[in-house]
Amino acid sequence: MMNFKIVHIEETDSTNRWMKEHGEGEMVVVADFQTAGKGCGQNSWESERGQNLLFSVLIHPTNVSARTQFIITQVVSVALCNTLEKFIIQPVEIKWPNDIYVGDKKICGVLIENKLEGQRIKDCVIGIGLDVNQTVFKSDAPNPVSIKLLTGHDTDREQLLNTFLTELQQAFVNKTIQRDYHNRLYRRQGRHPYMAGDKRFEASIVGVNDDGRLMLENEQGIAHLFAFKEVSFIIDNG
Ligand code: BTN
Repeated sequence: MMNFKIVHIEETDSTNRWMKEHGEGEMVVVADFQTAGKGCGQNSWESERGQNLLFSVLIHPTNVSARTQFIITQVVSVALCNTLEKFIIQPVEIKWPNDIYVGDKKICGVLIENKLEGQRIKDCVIGIGLDVNQTVFKSDAPNPVSIKLLTGHDTDREQLLNTFLTELQQAFVNKTIQRDYHNRLYRRQGRHPYMAGDKRFEASIVGVNDDGRLMLENEQGIAHLFAFKEVSFIIDNG
């Protein structure tokens, strides 16, 4: 079992970057504010000072290889859903590969950065940005929501973090993680609009491969596999 040392800092550029520079053993770093929070790809991650949960967890999984690293995404996503469902009543889902959604809105983003040594994962930095008590979002993020917007009250960020760390440890030994991940998928039922390149199409989710690719079946009944960034969900935020 992991016994995390937790370091709190007031401000840093990015907790993921901080962890890559200062992390040792298995630990957690939490910041009240990031001056250069990183989102997926080129995106940034904005968060009002002191309102949300911005943290990174450093682990060294011994039974996960480069080839099976998508397991970590599944474990983290399922642990986040299980955590959030203890604080809000609405169902929590995973928008492939690892955005955490409530309805059509994003409540949490995950940025996992693995340092490989051959086939082995030497260091795994799990960065999480969870919207907790912020109620006004100024950034260009299209569809944000927070726990406070859903419940109407403030949530203790430390309690939330501790709950997540417990759920994370449980998810790592969960024998049905793949099934849990699949059952949690946003839009796992029905046909919905997607975009690949400049093509818009309607499709239904067949599943997610072990390597993390999303399988969509189009209106002609033909299935296609998409790697991350090869397809985007069209979400009506009306
Ligand atoms: C996404 O784009 O959805 C991923 C966002 C991940 C943001 C978190 S906040 C804590 C950690 N440090 C970072 O710089 N990014 C992650």
